[in-house]
Parts: sequence; structure tokens; C-alpha cells
Amino acid sequence: MDAEDWRGRWTEGRTGWHEPEGNAGLQAAWPPLTDNTHVLVPLCGKSPDLLWLAKRGHEVTGIELSKIAVRDFFVENAIKYKLVKGDCLDCYSAVDLPLTLYCGDYFEYSGSGFDALYDRGALVALPPDLRERYIEHTKNLLRPGASRMIVTLEYDQAVVSGPPFSVPAEEISGYWDDLVCVSKKDDIDNCPPKFRAAGLTDVKELVWFSA
Ligand SMILES: C[S@@+](CC[C@H](N)C(=O)[O-])C[C@H]1O[C@@H](n2cnc3c(N)ncnc32)[C@H](O)[C@@H]1O
Repeated sequence: MDAEDWRGRWTEGRTGWHEPEGNAGLQAAWPPLTDNTHVLVPLCGKSPDLLWLAKRGHEVTGIELSKIAVRDFFVENAIKYKLVKGDCLDCYSAVDLPLTLYCGDYFEYSGSGFDALYDRGALVALPPDLRERYIEHTKNLLRPGASRMIVTLEYDQAVVSGPPFSVPAEEISGYWDDLVCVSKKDDIDNCPPKFRAAGLTDVKELVWFSA
């Protein structure tokens, strides 16, 4: 899927990955980081996880291609924002919360020094060739020793194609060898209908965290 495909999914309301109650893995396993930790949330959609992290006292920055997703996030959560248009990305800053969403291509985003990464639905949204580029870019945005939580999926990629893609454990260790799997649960009920239609019966959601 390219940028137009993703924007098209938002225009058509085909956003089956969206979790209205937020991600259970995040809520169960997010560590007690200090309040002003600056958390990077790549490819954030309009996830309630953004708000959950901000309400924990963290400073949250998300990056999302779709203007519909970004605006829906603020409107649906009744959060006032200020918009500053940029050359590559537009910046939407919440007025009463430490939360900023940049609307545009993640690979054009150039921040630095983030203390933590929260990735749900980002790495798994990308095909293998783009995943390497995504990890390199993300590493450049994080400070050394930053905390990282990544939510991934595992299933038989030979049965059905992504997105969302299956990302094997060896691939995760190849990116960061200090990540450990802190939870692994059945996710067949939450997966795209095309997975079940293709005959998949085993889909797992894994939560990885830096040790
Ligand atoms: C599978 S969704 C996950 C959204 C969110 N993380 C969640 O858990 O609900 C992937 C999101 O990434 C966005 N996206 C895809 N490519 C992107 C890119 N290059 N830069 C920024 N956002 C991108 C899509 O528009 C989509 O909202």
C-alpha cells in the first residue's frame, strides 16, 4: 500500500485496525516511566493510545499521513488544537495536553531525542523492504537507551498477504537485540476478515519491550 492507498482507506472508512478502546497490551505492560517522558508514536492513526499515554503525564508526538485521521482524533476526543502548516508536515498541537500530531509522511519527519517509542500498527503495516528503512529512521529519532514498546503480529505469511504483516521474532531481534516478548495472545478474533477467509486459524499478537 502506498500513501494514496492509506489515505483512501481513511476516506472510505476502511480502518478495521482501529481499536476504539485502545490497545490492551499497552495498558497492561507500559512501564512506570517518568511523567515528562517524550514518547514517539509513528503511524499513529487516530488511536486512543495517544490519549492514554498523554494522560499518563507523558509528552506524546504522533505522526500520521491522513488528515482525516488526525482531525478525527482531535474532534472525537473533544481536544482543542492549534494548527501550524509546514512544508512537509502540518503540526497539530493540543491546547490543554502535551500532545502533538504531525500530519504527513513519517519518513519526512525530522525530530530527535525521543525518550520512548510506542509502536502498534506501524511496523506491521509496512512490507519487509520498508520495515528496514522504518527502523533506521526510528533509531535516528530516539535518544540512546530509549524505552521501546512494539506490538506485532505472527501468523503464516504464506497463507495470506499483509498488511498487517507477520513480523517474525528473529526479525525483531535483528532490529534490536534487547527487546523481549512480554506478552503473546491469540488475536484471531481481532484480525482482518481476509485472514479468516484465507483459512488462517492461528494469529498471535505479541508485545515487545526493551529490557
Ligand atoms: C495499520 S494503521 C495503524 C494506526 C495506529 N497505529 C493504530 O494502532 O490504530 C497504519 C497507519 O499508518 C498510516 N501511515 C502509513 N504510511 C505512513 C507514512 N509513511 N507516514 C505516516 N503515516 C503512515 C496510515 O494512514 C494508517 O493510519
